[in-house]
Amino acid sequence: MKAVVLEEFGGPEVLTIREIPDPIAGPDEVRIRVSATALNRADLLERQGRYAMPGNKPRYQIPGLEVSGVVDQVGERVVAYRPGDRVMALLSGGGYAEYAVSPERLTMPVPVGIDIINAAAIPEAFLTAFDALFTQGGAGPGSRVLVHAGASGVGSAAIQLAHQFHMSVVTTVGSQIKLEAARAFGADHVVNYRHEPFADAVLDWSQGRGVDVILDLVGQSYFADNLRVLSHDGTLVVIGTLSGTATTLDLGIVLGNRLKIQGTTLRSRAVEKKMALIQRFLKEAWPLLDRGLIAPVIDSTYDLADIAEAHRYLVSNQNIGKVLVRVG
Ligand SMILES: NC(=O)c1ccc[n+]([C@@H]2O[C@H](COP(=O)([O-])OP(=O)(O)OC[C@H]3O[C@@H](n4cnc5c(N)ncnc54)[C@H](OP(=O)(O)O)[C@@H]3O)[C@@H](O)[C@H]2O)c1
Repeated sequence: MKAVVLEEFGGPEVLTIREIPDPIAGPDEVRIRVSATALNRADLLERQGRYAMPGNKPRYQIPGLEVSGVVDQVGERVVAYRPGDRVMALLSGGGYAEYAVSPERLTMPVPVGIDIINAAAIPEAFLTAFDALFTQGGAGPGSRVLVHAGASGVGSAAIQLAHQFHMSVVTTVGSQIKLEAARAFGADHVVNYRHEPFADAVLDWSQGRGVDVILDLVGQSYFADNLRVLSHDGTLVVIGTLSGTATTLDLGIVLGNRLKIQGTTLRSRAVEKKMALIQRFLKEAWPLLDRGLIAPVIDSTYDLADIAEAHRYLVSNQNIGKVLVRVG
């Protein structure tokens, strides 16, 4: 099969397509003929040699944390899928390839009405957002939630989920066009952080009460203001650190306001925990995708041959929603 194999680390130019043997499904796995994969910021770090795959080093290091496609081989213990099924899967790597294998329980059916290519935009963004809101953040109907980078892949999924689950959502974005997009996803209030400090805007919007949960992808530069806008017993969920990782912490605020700071990663999480997340997602959020109430937001679609260009585009921070790569 054709696959993007990392043989050296560096800029987008190291992403070259090679011919390698097709993978074979293990007893509990399905093999997927990949229609599309989607880009994640982790792919950029992996390409630079700054984000190793968890577990044993594979023979071929192929980036790609999610795919959609058609099952073409099933292991002997697989019960839920057969060849020909339309599926999407959360991977620890291996998505930039014509075939990928996935444990049955990390695989999900493609919701009715979602194009098979577009389905590749679902696993990382929606599972991360769902997990961050409900499991890590403890949000529920009536919660006030702040979602940073509201036009990002994760942000666009989080806003839609929060809206469907009757939360009030305020979000931050860096441009007018993203502001309009975030409104369309269902945000109750959108702050362009380039025009006003987000903390003041969030406190105004919440009439000084602050928010119960923050989903933060930005990290360092937002940390102090995040603590300022959390209400008593609030939770800051740290999903990404786009602006950096180092910061100082005023323990007085954490103590006095009984705050929680919760970090989260999907990729390195134990497989059983990922399976539990996917089973919960299939029950509680997947039906919303199936009924067309929420949908993956697609910014653009590249061909696998243009993978280097796709990486350059993601770095430019222009995308609204996910950047897809068509494989099959
Ligand atoms: N923990 C996990 O399991 C997990 C899973 C998936 C993703 N992530 C992380 O979540 C983050 C977002 O992923 P994504 O795929 O949704 O991102 P994305 O679609 O690539 O969007 C990221 C957006 O963040 C904003 N941004 C970038 N740098 C910023 C900065 N220094 N300050 C403020 N805003 C900044 C930009 O939007 P504006 O123009 O609006 O500023 C940018 O378009 C990444 O760090 C990723 O690694 C974590």
